[in-house]
Amino acid sequence: MNEFHTNTVYDCSVIELSRHHSQRKGNLSVVENGDSIPFDIKRAYYLYDVPGGEARGEHAHKKLRQLIVAASGSFSVTLDDGNIKRTFLLNRPYQALYVVPGIWRTLDDFSSGSVCLVLASAPYDPEDYIRNYHHFLELKKDDTSLG
Ligand code: TYD
Repeated sequence: MNEFHTNTVYDCSVIELSRHHSQRKGNLSVVENGDSIPFDIKRAYYLYDVPGGEARGEHAHKKLRQLIVAASGSFSVTLDDGNIKRTFLLNRPYQALYVVPGIWRTLDDFSSGSVCLVLASAPYDPEDYIRNYHHFLELKKDDTSLG
């Protein structure tokens, strides 16, 4: 049995990032390896121009950890461990949703102009994805799978 099988939606949480406020010049938030984030960042990507009504994600990862940030605007992230679902509304650029391996995620309700920044623990690897929900449920139940 590995972390993929034991992780639940309660292992995922919203992390408050540092906020530097300037009265006249706006705000700045920092995410830095070794400083209050649970993994080292190896990759960043961002989703934008997502049409209203569309959903993104709809997959799980075998090993990848991610921080999901609404860098602009808002969207919802629904996490599902096969038993329990939790939905988070992300709408603050200084909050990051930490998602562990073994969690099915769906992103939707993107506001117009929103930007979803994802900070990830590993380079892109299509082999790390589980894109079929029924396969995901089978793998979660079979604790001999995935080594
Ligand atoms: P996809 O994983 O389908 O997006 P989402 O699950 O968020 O809806 O990715 C869309 C395309 O982008 C797909 O062709 C793979 C490619 N891609 C990369 O090349 N590198 C990456 O780091 C990511 C996340 C996606």
